[in-house]
Amino acid sequence: MRDLCRSFEDGLFFFHTTSFTASQTSSYKSCLGCLPKKVKNVRNPIFTGREDILSRMRKTIEPTKFPRHQSKLALIGIPGMGKTQIALEYAFESIDAGRYDIVLVAQAETKAKLVNSFVQFDDELGLKGYASKSTANSQTASRDRVKRYLEQTEKPWLIIFDNVEPPELTPGQSLDPQNDWSLAEFWPSGNRGSVLVTARKDTALGPPFQVSGGAIENVSGLRVNDSVDILFKISRIQDSRQNRRYAEQIYRMVAGHPFSLTTVASMISVKRIDFKEYIELFPNTRLFKEAKPITAPHSFYENSLSTSFWNAVVGIKHSEGHEDAWKLLELLSFLDPDGVSEKDLAEGSLGSQDLVLWQIVDSRQFEVNRSFLCENNAIDRNPNIKTILMHRMMQDYCHFIMTPESRQAAFDTAFTLINNLWPVSERHNRHQPRLWPDQERLSSHVVRLAELWMTSCRNHEGTYLYATVHFAELLHNCAWFVAPMAITSMLSLMIY
Ligand SMILES: Nc1ncnc2c1ncn2[C@@H]1O[C@H](COP(=O)(O)OP(=O)(O)OP(=O)(O)O)[C@@H](O)[C@H]1O
Ligand SMILES: [Mg+2]
Repeated sequence: MRDLCRSFEDGLFFFHTTSFTASQTSSYKSCLGCLPKKVKNVRNPIFTGREDILSRMRKTIEPTKFPRHQSKLALIGIPGMGKTQIALEYAFESIDAGRYDIVLVAQAETKAKLVNSFVQFDDELGLKGYASKSTANSQTASRDRVKRYLEQTEKPWLIIFDNVEPPELTPGQSLDPQNDWSLAEFWPSGNRGSVLVTARKDTALGPPFQVSGGAIENVSGLRVNDSVDILFKISRIQDSRQNRRYAEQIYRMVAGHPFSLTTVASMISVKRIDFKEYIELFPNTRLFKEAKPITAPHSFYENSLSTSFWNAVVGIKHSEGHEDAWKLLELLSFLDPDGVSEKDLAEGSLGSQDLVLWQIVDSRQFEVNRSFLCENNAIDRNPNIKTILMHRMMQDYCHFIMTPESRQAAFDTAFTLINNLWPVSERHNRHQPRLWPDQERLSSHVVRLAELWMTSCRNHEGTYLYATVHFAELLHNCAWFVAPMAITSMLSLMIY
């Protein structure tokens, strides 16, 4: 029997599902809560502040038995403001408090990712997994099984739909509530459970959230004391009254924006400078014009935030002796931000003709480059599952900084990597279940590459990415796998 258990690995909370016998199950009764085993996030050891929002969240979405109702809450705010961090902190804290028996974190940025998340939940909740004969049925059936389970179970549950994006509209198009919000088809109906959504804009929420009036928390900058705390914790600069005054100045420069604070503090630590030197070196004069993120064109970056981030990313690019680390970052900026397996990076470069790929991924320098990027807050790493995460905001800034030539080169390298790894089934026998786990894992990278390629085709600055017929072939193979639930969006990418 499959049950849910919590483990404590390498000093970090990490949750997974395991198989137990009935007697073992009772001894694990205290192990309430489950995060799917492939959750790539670990609890942020320097999570700071947000007590006010967390306390309101407890009141709004804690499970209640009577009267039974589904509670919903959305965290809305600009990129990097800490929405995902708050949602995860609530999840970890809830598991500690024994609030829920089931906690699921769905990556909701694209429909393809939602599909993957629900296939994973189906497997980890032990509902049926890859039981159906065809992939298509299996995906639809997984989604429906998970939804049905959540709609009927007596166990208290929490589902987080993280990083939801609004539907893309063409001029004059009217929205279809059932089809245009991909969230609609994944939302468990009924009067049970707690649903938490994070999104950059409330237009992403759509009908399932709005119809029965979910609560909205607008997430803005951290308070001054929390911001200063973060700066001290990461930079390890000595706490003194004078340093506090400079730290407060940096807080004002970035308006308490948490991702800017952590990035600035990491930069200070790596460069071995103090707060005063940072302010002198990077006065907020060089404003970067307001920009639309590449990852979410409906959103925007504010000038003041862009500047500090811009400085940090430029700093990484021009770090002497770390050219390969920058190349690795460029490559990662074309892959799924929610996780790249280091095993895939190594295996995809094996025997590759792509010299850059071989050089940055397969060389002994890989660990050095990875550490450098982690220290600079450009990437994060979950050591338990040897996976690299790169925030979407960091990806955007890399794309802004790259020249058209380097963007093309990084796109080609990322494509080569994934293409080398993609297991192709024979044409006469497309349905090969043994290939599905690999294809499922890699499909999020293919979808990411396709999105970035399509976005580049839409901008009219002549900086579009050139893709070969082999890229179309990879999309075709992937569309076959992600069919039919995400096929419409995949095919529209190909036809575009
Ligand atoms: N409360 C916090 N304490 C410490 N660090 C934080 C906090 N909130 C955010 N951060 C830092 O800021 C980064 C960005 O936060 P997060 O991913 O939650 O932003 P987001 O609002 O979800 O952005 P996006 O809209 O791009 O998904 C985190 O990776 C973390 O380094
Ligand atoms: Mg987020």
